[in-house]
Amino acid sequence: MLVGMRAIQAVKPGPASVLRAVDLPQPKPGPGQVLAKVAAAGVNFIDTYRRSGVYKVKFPHVPGSEGSGTVEALGPDVTDLAVGDKIAWATSASGSYAEYALVEAAQALPVPPGLDLAAAAALPLQGMTADYLVRAVFPVGPNHTAVLYAAAGGVGQLATQMILASGAHLIAVTGSAEKAERVVKLGVDPKNVIVLSTLASIDLDLPQAVRDLTGGLGAHVVYDSIGRDTFAASLSSLRRRGTLVLFGGSSGQVPPFDPQELNAHGSLYLTRPTLADYTATRQELLGRAGRVFSAATAGSLRVTTDHRFALAEAATAHQALEARRTAGKVLLVP
Ligand SMILES: NC(=O)c1ccc[n+]([C@@H]2O[C@H](COP(=O)([O-])OP(=O)(O)OC[C@H]3O[C@@H](n4cnc5c(N)ncnc54)[C@H](OP(=O)(O)O)[C@@H]3O)[C@@H](O)[C@H]2O)c1
Repeated sequence: MLVGMRAIQAVKPGPASVLRAVDLPQPKPGPGQVLAKVAAAGVNFIDTYRRSGVYKVKFPHVPGSEGSGTVEALGPDVTDLAVGDKIAWATSASGSYAEYALVEAAQALPVPPGLDLAAAAALPLQGMTADYLVRAVFPVGPNHTAVLYAAAGGVGQLATQMILASGAHLIAVTGSAEKAERVVKLGVDPKNVIVLSTLASIDLDLPQAVRDLTGGLGAHVVYDSIGRDTFAASLSSLRRRGTLVLFGGSSGQVPPFDPQELNAHGSLYLTRPTLADYTATRQELLGRAGRVFSAATAGSLRVTTDHRFALAEAATAHQALEARRTAGKVLLVP
C-alpha cells in the first residue's frame, strides 16, 4: 500500500506563490539512504534561488536542503544508523519541505543529546557555512578587521558570534535599525554597526564608513552575501591585499567582472566559495557540524529560531526571507 505525506511542491519556477502544499507518496530509501521523519526543515536563501529558476533544478520540485528529524527507515545497505536515531542534514539534494525526506547516510549528522531538533535544523547549512567562512576561507583572528553584511541574518548571526569569538574587529552591516539592535545584543560594538537604510549611496558611503572605522586603511576581509548591490562597495572597503569573500547574491548575482579591478583596488583577492567544497570529506563534514553543534549545545553559540512557520506556510516564509523581514533562522515545522 502506498503511504502518503504532506509536502510543498512547485510545478514550475516562479515567485513564492508557486509553492503549494500537496499530497505525495512517502519516498522509499534506496541504497545509501535513510528516510527521516522531519521535525523541522530549514529555510535558506538557496531555496529561493532554486524556486525562482536562478539555480537550475528539475520541476516538479520539492524544496529544502536542510532539516532535522528521526530516522524512520533504512536503505538496504545502511549499517551505521538505526531507526530512531536523531539526525540533521544539509544536502545538495532537495526534498526537506515535507513530512518525510530522504537523506544520504553519508550526509547525516548525529544530533548530540541536549540539542533540540529545532536548533539542530537551524545549524547544518548556515552554521557550517559560517564556520568554513571564518575558519577556512579567510581565518579571522585578533589582528584582523572584518566586514560582514546581513549580520542579523541566518548565516549572519552565527558568523557574527564566530568572528567576535576569534578576537577580530567586526564591522557589522544590517538593513535596518531593528536588525542593528539584534547584532548589538550579540556583542557587536554599536559604533561598529552600519545600517544600509541610512546611507544615501552604498557604493560611496559604505567604504567611507569602513575607512572611518579603520583609521583610513579599510578591512582585511569582507564577507559579502548580498552580491549585486554591494560588490563595488566591498571592493572599495578593503585595504591593500585584502580579501573579498563573495558567498551569496541575496540582492542578485554579480554581473561579469573585469579582474583588473582587483589590481586597481590594491592587489585584492576574490573568492566565491560554496559549502560543498568545504565539507568535501566525511571527516571535514563531521568536524564542522560537530564544532557548531557542540557550541550551540554548550550555549556559546546562540541560535535564533523565532521565525517558525507551519509547513503549509512555505510561500509566506519565502516571501518574508526575500523581503528582508526575517532575522536569524527561518524554519518550517511539519
Ligand atoms: N556560498 C555558500 O556556501 C552559502 C551557504 C549558505 C548561504 N549562502 C548565502 O548567504 C546568504 C545568506 O543566506 P541566509 O539563508 O542566511 O539568508 P539571510 O541572510 O537570513 O537573509 C538574507 C538577508 O540579506 C539581506 N539583503 C540585502 N539586500 C537584500 C535584497 N535586495 N533582497 C533580500 N535580502 C537582502 C537582508 O538582510 P539586511 O536587511 O540586514 O540587509 C536579508 O535578511 C545568501 O545570499 C545565501 O545564498 C551561501
